[in-house]
Amino acid sequence: MLGIESSCDETAAAVVKDGKQLLSNIVATSMDLHAQYGGVVPEIAARSHIEAVIPVVKQALADAQCTWDDIDAIAVTYGAGLGGSLLVGVMTARTLAILHNKPLYGVNHVEGHVYANFLTSTPLPDYQLPDQQPKFPLLALIVSGGHSQLALFQNHFDYTLLGQTQDDAIGEAFDKVAKILGLPYPGGPSVGAKALEGNPHAYTLPKARLAGKYDFSFSGLKTAVLRLAQEQVGKDYSLPSFELPGLLNEAQKADIAASFQRIAIETVVDKALQAYEEFQPASVVIAGGVAASPELRRQLAERLPIPIAYTDRKLCTDNGAMIATLGCYHVLHNRPVADPYKLAIAPNLSM
Ligand code: KG4
Ligand code: ZN
Repeated sequence: MLGIESSCDETAAAVVKDGKQLLSNIVATSMDLHAQYGGVVPEIAARSHIEAVIPVVKQALADAQCTWDDIDAIAVTYGAGLGGSLLVGVMTARTLAILHNKPLYGVNHVEGHVYANFLTSTPLPDYQLPDQQPKFPLLALIVSGGHSQLALFQNHFDYTLLGQTQDDAIGEAFDKVAKILGLPYPGGPSVGAKALEGNPHAYTLPKARLAGKYDFSFSGLKTAVLRLAQEQVGKDYSLPSFELPGLLNEAQKADIAASFQRIAIETVVDKALQAYEEFQPASVVIAGGVAASPELRRQLAERLPIPIAYTDRKLCTDNGAMIATLGCYHVLHNRPVADPYKLAIAPNLSM
């Protein structure tokens, strides 16, 4: 299965065999172009995808030592994501499906993140994969720049969305906090690194309480960090956030980063634990960019009664391997093929 992913700022393609073996995984990112703006600029992302997509697909086939004859089908992310970005991947996949006469599968990006956990072997160097696939029922905590969801899978394509964020995603909160502290984009790794120098109990920050038992909210926490930073430099609440990095000292930045990270991660771990106790799943997986967070892994290991098998950090952020893997299960479960002349993008696709 060739998987193509272009929903945000990564242009990615990969080849996966039988839904469990990773044969290649190529990711080109336009992240550096967005860094100066502190977040992804949709127009820049879309243009970068156009330049990168064909070389990335070619490299994915070459690394997998495949020709088009070896490819049985193509899977592509058709949502959720940025419209212009999704269009590039989808139009490329449609064209390749027609050109090479391959069945085409439209894949949900957020479901795809979960499937990164189903890869268990690879001839590629530098990948650490779990020995076994996760077992059903499976509790999935999906935490990325665009999504924060808890879902319970009874089987492939048979799942219930237990809860989700009502406003910002957790990764987005990391990215905004990085901006307030003057740390580079993406905020997850940079806030995480700064937090190592700080005291996670230096400041008290709020945890949102919501009507939905498994729902999340991160916008209040984000505002609380802004107010805290303003307070630290003289209590002027009208101070614009772009002036804060120049006024906060390094110790204050580290303490804010550590306190924010502790609360943000605790928020999702609390809910995952609550869902674990209620549903007693056979396995728990984490997925999405924030699943790369060492602090998330530390808190889960400390609090969850069963061990979690983590996939490689390179498969947590956006990639084609997760899309190709989910594509394999579309085939194995006789899901409908997409019309290569018609497959449309769905920027607001939900789980
Ligand atoms: O899954 P992803 O690549 O894209 C989306 O589908 O959103 O996730 C990107 C998000 C960003 O917000 C980034 O700050 C966060 O994942 N992230 C991390 C880490 N690496 C990436 N967050 C915490 N710790 C990390 N090591
Ligand atoms: Zn993603």
